[in-house]
Amino acid sequence: MADTLTVTDNRNGKTYEIPIRDGAISAIELRKIKTSEDDFGLMSYDPAYLNTASCRSSVTYIDGDKGILRYRGYPIEQLAEKATFLECAQLLLEGELPSKSRHDQFVHEVMHHTFVHENVKRFMEGFRYDANPMSMFISAVAALSSFYPEANEVEDPAVRHRQIVRLIAKVPTLAAYSYRHSQGLPYVYPSNELSYTGNFLAMVFKMSEMKYVPNPTLERAFDVLFILHADHEQNCSTSTMRQIGSSRVDPYSALAGAAAALYGPLHGGANAEVLYMLEKIGKKENVPDFIKKVKSKDAMLMGFGHRVYRNYDPRAKIIKKLAHEVFQVTGTNPLLEIAMELERIALEEEYFISRKLYPNVDFYSGLIYQAMRFPVDFFPVLFAIGRTVGWLAQWQEMLQDKEQKIARPRQIYTGPDKRDYVAMGGRG
Ligand code: SDX
Repeated sequence: MADTLTVTDNRNGKTYEIPIRDGAISAIELRKIKTSEDDFGLMSYDPAYLNTASCRSSVTYIDGDKGILRYRGYPIEQLAEKATFLECAQLLLEGELPSKSRHDQFVHEVMHHTFVHENVKRFMEGFRYDANPMSMFISAVAALSSFYPEANEVEDPAVRHRQIVRLIAKVPTLAAYSYRHSQGLPYVYPSNELSYTGNFLAMVFKMSEMKYVPNPTLERAFDVLFILHADHEQNCSTSTMRQIGSSRVDPYSALAGAAAALYGPLHGGANAEVLYMLEKIGKKENVPDFIKKVKSKDAMLMGFGHRVYRNYDPRAKIIKKLAHEVFQVTGTNPLLEIAMELERIALEEEYFISRKLYPNVDFYSGLIYQAMRFPVDFFPVLFAIGRTVGWLAQWQEMLQDKEQKIARPRQIYTGPDKRDYVAMGGRG
């Protein structure tokens, strides 16, 4: 049997044969379907891309029905158990797990680009004392573009590599500075002899001690969290990275845009919203009332539901387990009890079952961040550190993909037909 789709246009009885490749038809094939020579041709209409593949990608695989997530073929569960974040970064960026020597070289490169120019620090110091850390982070990433004018040579692989290393190295520094600023604490310079995650924790938590020694459980927990957040194929922020990058702008500008997309409460900002929700619910006994509100659409269960997963998000399972390990060190977060009760009731309720709504990556992560004493509005910044790697891997893939061009969707115009200008005095 041929891998084609036969379409009959009932407007004129014409028949078209459209090739099917990898379970998809090419939307541009529809353009051939016309009623006359001057007809533009048929388009597909897909607001919010519910059923449109925007690219071919070999980075991340998700099976939403089965709850499967793999980076370059490796199950997320194995990576979370055995790999480090920088190993996963190389896997996502280069396609393969690195050899020891290649990995040592990459770690050296990253850890020797962690400092930012003093003017970046001064720029950040200029924010109001109560500035939201995610706003500071987004602005500081965008500002980096002015420090590296060569970065707009995006077609040059060597220049590209340098910016990728710089971004992975510097986002923890910018993130930590935004945290210290919001706490009114002095900024802490990077310590390159620590691990990637250890250095981040040092820049965040170091006080007067000569040498900051990260707690190994928390250091590993953060590494795992960064791994789990590193990529998730064509989500809102990654599609934004690709879309902005398609104009061939430098990666700092594109990444600032991606981070801005992540900030929204329906995306990476949901981890903070979960905490606000749990705090508002207040105690376990109030959960049934809250669920009633969700069912009547007077509230939304933040951290639940997903465009792709129609099953338990595999990352949420790992984070839930990780939370218990972190709480051994930090003490339990009292909100955990409410979260678990919400999950228990939601998973039994027809409203959630019929809509296939399960906990997503954001449901439990905030409980860990809060137990580690991070302020809630810093949570999206923590998401952005891990996701930087995915944004860069997808950006690089987009630039190397010969099928890609500047992203430019079509529209169905619904406005008025041509009409003549009316002087102000003549308007009704
Ligand atoms: C992330 O895409 C990614 O990969 C994202 C991400 C990544 O790693 O990059 O995984 C990270 O963004 C996780 C999602 C974080 N957001 C939230 O937790 C916010 C709460 N979730 C929802 O807003 C929602 O589920 C979305 C935005 C995540 C997905 O939205 P969809 O696919 O557009 O689904 P929908 O809004 O059309 O919902 C379908 C139905 C609706 O009910 P009906 O109109 O059919 O009656 O399910 C209901 C929705 O009202 N619904 C919810 C709900 N999520 C969906 N009802 C209550 N609470 C919810 N959380």
